[in-house]
Parts: sequence; structure tokens; C-alpha cells
Amino acid sequence: MASPAPVADGSAAQNPLTLLTLDELRQRTSVKWRMHPPDVLPLWVAEMDVPLAPSVADALRRAIDLGDTGYAHGTAYAEALSDFAARRWGWHNFRVDHATVVPDVMMGVVEVLRLVTDPGDAVVVCSPVYPPFYAFVSHADRQVIEAPLGPDQRMDLAALDEAFRRARACGRRPAFLICNPHNPTGVVHRRDELEAVAELACRHGLRVISDEIHAPLVLPGAHFTPYLTVAGAENAFALISASKAWNLAGLKAALAVAGPQAAVDLNRMPEEVSHGPSHLGVIAHTAAFRAGGQWLDLLLDGLDTNRSLLETLLAKHLPSVRYHRPEGTYLAWLDCTALGIDTGQSDGEPGVASDVDGPAKMFLDRARVALSSGHVFGTGGAGFVRLNFATSPAILTDAVARMGRAVDTHRPSAG
Ligand SMILES: Cc1ncc(COP(=O)(O)O)c(C=O)c1O
Repeated sequence: MASPAPVADGSAAQNPLTLLTLDELRQRTSVKWRMHPPDVLPLWVAEMDVPLAPSVADALRRAIDLGDTGYAHGTAYAEALSDFAARRWGWHNFRVDHATVVPDVMMGVVEVLRLVTDPGDAVVVCSPVYPPFYAFVSHADRQVIEAPLGPDQRMDLAALDEAFRRARACGRRPAFLICNPHNPTGVVHRRDELEAVAELACRHGLRVISDEIHAPLVLPGAHFTPYLTVAGAENAFALISASKAWNLAGLKAALAVAGPQAAVDLNRMPEEVSHGPSHLGVIAHTAAFRAGGQWLDLLLDGLDTNRSLLETLLAKHLPSVRYHRPEGTYLAWLDCTALGIDTGQSDGEPGVASDVDGPAKMFLDRARVALSSGHVFGTGGAGFVRLNFATSPAILTDAVARMGRAVDTHRPSAG
């Protein structure tokens, strides 16, 4: 068989999701692989089972060989993102001088919240949503107001209108923290939806902060719209990094980007925030945006394949579990309510990402498959699980088969 054609960044044109064996993955020391005992297949936290993109690995290796491990400097990261955003998303008015490096996306969210809201102010989120949207906001002494997604899992403008009104009523400077694309549903917000959000936010006087960490991970059939390219978003912020798409969560560095009317706020960011990102992180994220495009395309093909494989596997092994094909991310939000499993602590506090209950607990205990528990994603999450399909087709197949067997043996009629 002919060997795969090389691509420009030096990698063979292979699906990155097929390159590591389970034995190799189990040698990893990150939370995905160390939270549970070795008989568990971990499909929970948003880490991917891929080797580093060669362009990123080369940049890091070069830095190590040179001993280039001092403090980060300059605007290379923002320039690399600006070029990537223009090529991929048609974002041509990206202003490098309106971007600043922050330690990671969530710390960036918190620091921007500190700039544009006050303690006690409300922060609106569309539930169910990434659990730290609850924990980090409340730890920063702001209060979360939920605007639940609609039954189609997209933003519900009437719910947003009502939440914005309540947010306005309970504080001086409220904000809306949007997840674009949305974790856990994988919905990629359309331009018309974002324009409607911007119009509502202007009308109610809320600042918008758009978490765009999953932006490069938009799958065939959908198109990512950067919030700052939408009319009415001039005083908004976006938080972006290469962390999810190139699996760089351990290499800390993200960018906070301000719309033209928000640049004055971003200038007030305390100096110490820029001391958080690591130089190696900046090098890695810069290399990803600058030279990791072909690797990303191979990854997106692999994720698209897994997205369809998951649909087939669920139909075969778990036909009563409902799956909306995600438009982006590598996360599948599975409605397990028809399994009739007690949803456990569904009334408890959302926000603790590693808390496991309900169907996720059943799958962990009986299938030895670790998933994220829906209840930690807030209202609308109970009875769901989030499955991370950024793994090999072999692991995905084994995991869903195990989950199917667990449900069969869990049925009361099976004794
Ligand atoms: C929507 C969203 N925001 C932020 C993060 C975390 O990003 P960081 O590690 O850069 O804070 C994640 C991680 O999965 C995420 O899904």
C-alpha cells in the first residue's frame, strides 16, 4: 500500500485520531487519563486523543533546543490569529492592537468580566452550558442568570430577552457570556442569530463576551461567525485560543480581543494578567494558528467521520438515546432521558465539571466509560451526558458497545 502523502507542515496526511494506541494514551498523565482507573475508557473532559500537530511540536522543540524559555513578548500570537481568522472566517477587520494575551480562555473571561461588570452584577448564560461558566462567574462574585436554550438546542431569543431584562434589573453593569460554538450541544450560532443577540444586548445595555475557543472546530455543513464581525458587536469581547483545536490546554496562552468600542476597556486590564501565559504556550498557540491549518483539516475530517460513526453506533447499541449531530466541537450531547435512569443530583448546583451522577454514573459504574454528567451544565442538563468523540474510531466503537451492554443489563426486566 502506498504511504500517505506528506503535507506542507511535515505530517503524513493521516487522520490524527488514529495515530495513538490505547496503551500509549494510558501513559498520559493529564486529567482525562488519570482521573479514573485504567479499565475506564475516558470520553469526558475536552482533551483529544491525538499527537501534537508537527508544526506545533517543531516550534516547541526549537524553543527547547535554544533554551528559549524566558518571558513572552510581542504580538506574534495575535498576528497569527488575525491571519487565520481572515483566511478561515473572513474576519478582515481584526485589530492586533485590540488583542491582549491572557493565561487561558476562562481566566480571560473572568478578567474581562472584572473590567465591564461589578461585584453582584448579573451574567447571563444560555443553559445547558460549559460548567465553569457557573463556577468561575460566581467565584468572581457575579450572579448567573440562565436563559435556557430552546427545544432545538439553539439560543431562544424570547428567553434571552427575559433574562437580559432581569439582569438589567438586578445590577448596574450586566453582561452576556455566550459560548460560540456552544459547548455542550455543538451548535454553531448563525450570523442572523448573533445579530439578533447584538440587537437585544444593545437594547438592554448588556456587554457581550464571546467564548470562541471551539471556533476552529466547525464541521462540514456549518460556518463559524466571529461575534466581533456582527453588526452591533462593537463594544463586545471575544476570547480565543488554539487550545481545543490543537489540544494545547496544558500550554497556557489565550487572546482577549476587543471590538473597537471595547478597546478602551481592554487597556484597563491589569498588567499582572499578561504575566500568566507561558512563553512556551504563546509559541505553541502561535505555531498552531500560523502553520497548523492542514493538520486541522485532517482532524476535522476525522471528527466528521466520528460524528457519523457515533450516529451509527448509537442507533445500533443505544437506540433510545437521542443524538443531535453537532455542527461543531467534538462533543456529543446525548439525551438519555428515555433510559429512565434516576437523574440523581439534577437539582444540585451546576458548575463542578467532574461531578458524576444520573446516566453518566450508571455508564461509569456499569460500562466503565467516563462521560460528563449533564446536570453540571445547568438547567436542561439533567438526564443528558456529554460524550467526547475526539478519539479513535476503535475506542469510540468499544465505548458505545459497552454502554449498550450496560443499558441492557441495567433494565429492571433483565433482573
Ligand atoms: C467553552 C469552553 N471555554 C473554555 C474552556 C477552557 O479553556 P481554557 O483552558 O483556555 O480556560 C473550555 C474547555 O473545554 C470550553 O469548552
